[in-house]
Amino acid sequence: MRRLAVAVPVLALVLAGCQAKKAASPPDGKPRTEAGKKYVIGMSQCNRGEPWRVQMDTDIEEAAKAHPEFTVLFKDAQNKSEMQQSHVREFIQQKVDAIIISPKEARPLTKPVAEAYDAGIPVIVLDRKIEGDKYTCFIGADNVKIGREAGKYLVELLGGKGEIVELKGLMTSTPGQERHNGFMEGIAGSNIKIIFDADCQWLEPNAQREMKSALSRFPKIDAVYAHNDPSAHGAYLAARQEGKGREKTIKFIGIDALPHEGVRYVKDGLLTATFQYPTGGKEAIETVLKILKGETVEKTITLGTRIFTADTVASGGKEL
Ligand code: FRU
Repeated sequence: MRRLAVAVPVLALVLAGCQAKKAASPPDGKPRTEAGKKYVIGMSQCNRGEPWRVQMDTDIEEAAKAHPEFTVLFKDAQNKSEMQQSHVREFIQQKVDAIIISPKEARPLTKPVAEAYDAGIPVIVLDRKIEGDKYTCFIGADNVKIGREAGKYLVELLGGKGEIVELKGLMTSTPGQERHNGFMEGIAGSNIKIIFDADCQWLEPNAQREMKSALSRFPKIDAVYAHNDPSAHGAYLAARQEGKGREKTIKFIGIDALPHEGVRYVKDGLLTATFQYPTGGKEAIETVLKILKGETVEKTITLGTRIFTADTVASGGKEL
């Protein structure tokens, strides 16, 4: 078994050099685990500037603690796709046993991930997707469903009509696209109109600035659909700063539902609702373990979501 674990990457290099057949891409049913052996997992986080991402790294760290044979090398790409491309290529050179990546954007990260996969390294793509199918497993919640549920919730809340602002996430990342598409499905057939929208790149200060401009243009805004809780909070702050009391009449909806962030905002009455977006950190470590043991894993692992509103927040939200 030892020979196998070492032989896979070496074989990959030899074959790549000859431009012949590539190494078998994991999971290939070959166990890579062995008693007493240590395993290095490279984790590339797109940024650690946002609380949700710090939580994801913590979830990975906590889950890995149960497996002393795992060492996780955490890297922070500081929201730069080029830096994240380098992370993946460094991990390939280091011949890590597995890679976990939460990519900033789909397109720029597709090629480096494919290179790792072709070199025989199992790659778990977490939360945001890449293009194509050259990765081992994608883990994340269904963002189309979350967007659709948010849309349906607003239709219900506003009695089928209203003027709303959509503060989008980074639209070159898949959750931004999917949360928008799902939302459009959710409000289809209603009289809800998006009167203002902006790509806030997931960032609270951007959302605050965009909301300020929406408030200055539109005397009537019924609700804000923000693609994450920091953006919903930024919008709330802009409304409060305007000084007309509109933070009390506009309904602010967010996504993420971290206990100390979105859930807290709902408890404090700042947000009307937030939808949970689990980090998947624990599931990523469990999946790496399965792959290293030679077990087959699903290509896509879809995590669930919950809605938190004033009515349900005390009891832990409601499953959707
Ligand atoms: C953090 C974050 C979350 C969001 C997720 C989408 O960077 O913006 O707020 O739910 O990324 O990938």
